Amino acid sequence: MQHRSEIRFLLNGRDVALSDVGADDTLLDFLRLDQRLTGSKEGCAEGDCGACTVMVGRLTPEGLRYETVNACIRFLASLDGCHVVTIEYLGGPDGRLSPVQKAMVDHHGSQCGFCTPGIVMSLYALWMAHEQPTVAQVESALQGNLCRCTGYAPIIRAAQVVTDYGTASAEHLATERDSVTARLTAMRDGRRVDVSKGDSRAILPADVDDLAAVLKAVPEATIVAGSTDVGLWVTKFLKRISPAVFIGQLDGLKEITVTEEAVTFGAGVTYSEAQDVIAQHYPHLVDYWDRIAGWQVRNMGTIGGNIANGSPIGDTPPVLIALGASITLRKGDARRQLPLEAFFLDYGKQDRVEGEFVESISIPRLAGGYHAAYKISKRREEDISSVAVGMQVTVEAGMITAARLAFGGMAGVPARAAAAEAALLGQPWSEASLLAAAEKLPEDFQPLSDMRATADYRMKVAQNLFRRFWLEQSGADARLERA
Ligand SMILES: Cc1cc2nc3c(=O)[nH]c(=O)nc-3n(C[C@H](O)[C@H](O)[C@H](O)COP(=O)(O)OP(=O)(O)OC[C@H]3O[C@@H](n4cnc5c(N)ncnc54)[C@H](O)[C@@H]3O)c2cc1C
Ligand code: FES
Ligand code: FES
Repeated sequence: MQHRSEIRFLLNGRDVALSDVGADDTLLDFLRLDQRLTGSKEGCAEGDCGACTVMVGRLTPEGLRYETVNACIRFLASLDGCHVVTIEYLGGPDGRLSPVQKAMVDHHGSQCGFCTPGIVMSLYALWMAHEQPTVAQVESALQGNLCRCTGYAPIIRAAQVVTDYGTASAEHLATERDSVTARLTAMRDGRRVDVSKGDSRAILPADVDDLAAVLKAVPEATIVAGSTDVGLWVTKFLKRISPAVFIGQLDGLKEITVTEEAVTFGAGVTYSEAQDVIAQHYPHLVDYWDRIAGWQVRNMGTIGGNIANGSPIGDTPPVLIALGASITLRKGDARRQLPLEAFFLDYGKQDRVEGEFVESISIPRLAGGYHAAYKISKRREEDISSVAVGMQVTVEAGMITAARLAFGGMAGVPARAAAAEAALLGQPWSEASLLAAAEKLPEDFQPLSDMRATADYRMKVAQNLFRRFWLEQSGADARLERA
């Protein structure tokens, strides 16, 4: 296949074409060191603090979609065909401030200012979507932005009055939509992109078949989807990821198909892209989804990446295993499907051979029964689970006929609790049955102690969640909701 050896994107108002791009070059380094656009800050360089937040616009079947992302863990190569918007672009060429910035100044939303560009970008994205945001919407928009000195109250006050300073539809991101769409469309030539800097190589396949072909030719390549895990390998562990195959741009991995039996997500569907369908078909996952990272990470991170990384504390595997999900793996033209739990063989070991990739995840539609998803972490926002749990129990005529209980953080892999499940089968649907099943949990798991939680805490909280499951399902007001 003919390939192109440069990436093209829009940076604020300018066309950029770059051929000298390595696999592990980050967007933030490009902005700050190469372009001297130093408004975007580097705080943590691991996606946590949001100081580097920029917006990225990309063409989707529904039109141009702008999202906040963490520039520190976003790789430059992945921006082919995108519009990168930095803090420098929000105001006017004459240096005037944007309405969000004016509101922040007037409401004292900034002290040292280090977090401020990132916060402004997050609030700008919010304002473009909701001109009169509620406090809950502002808090949600700021899940991925840390401010260590101002305190959030003035920032939230500023966010709520941006519309007093201007109209979102008059902003150039709104008025330039058609011309940006045309410019991005013109950049698309349907070709594979293959760029290098020194011995560091980045490949962007043209489509999913081309991805299969690339991985056949370069089976040792690092697959990069949203880079919210891989980005940290580079910025934290200084790992080289070349050759890297970027898949986040592949529309063929972003399809969501709903049938009578199942909802199937392409492996490249991000948390943000999935959330409406999740809300519609798996409403018990809505709060849980909102507990995964913050918006910047949810806008990049994919369900496929969360599974493929094989982490015992990834949030989607336990809840998807409980729902009976299966995954499709592809190598060349050959595909195989396996129950999600079978993919996780041992700590750090998955049932995936070199050159194979996760193509999709299929989740059966809910058919009655009781469902729950719980995440236990030290912080509500932007934290990794100590324990994550998915529960699905089927009851007929008052008796439990099927149970799927899956746990993360309790073993080296996300796994079902076979003894606890067996204890439920054939029992009446009652608190006593659930508490008896909880007593069996030590037969299923011997959790570890680490910086997130002790083994005792993990076991205790996991057992307590059986009680919580009963209380919630029996109508007691046991759920801790966001105020
Ligand atoms: C600040 C922050 C907060 C986070 N919070 C959470 C959280 O609350 N809960 C949680 O579970 N995770 C969290 N994460 C981790 C991460 O966001 C998720 O694991 C995410 O789903 C990874 O997806 P990705 O597309 O970014 O994967 P990538 O980083 O691109 O890849 C991850 C791994 O999967 C492989 N891979 C990706 N796609 C495929 C595919 N289709 N086929 C085969 N291999 C593939 C890659 O080679 C790599 O090994 C957080 C990360 C950050 C930086
Ligand atoms: S620098 Fe902290 S999230 Fe990027
Ligand atoms: S203003 Fe100092 S970190 Fe937010």
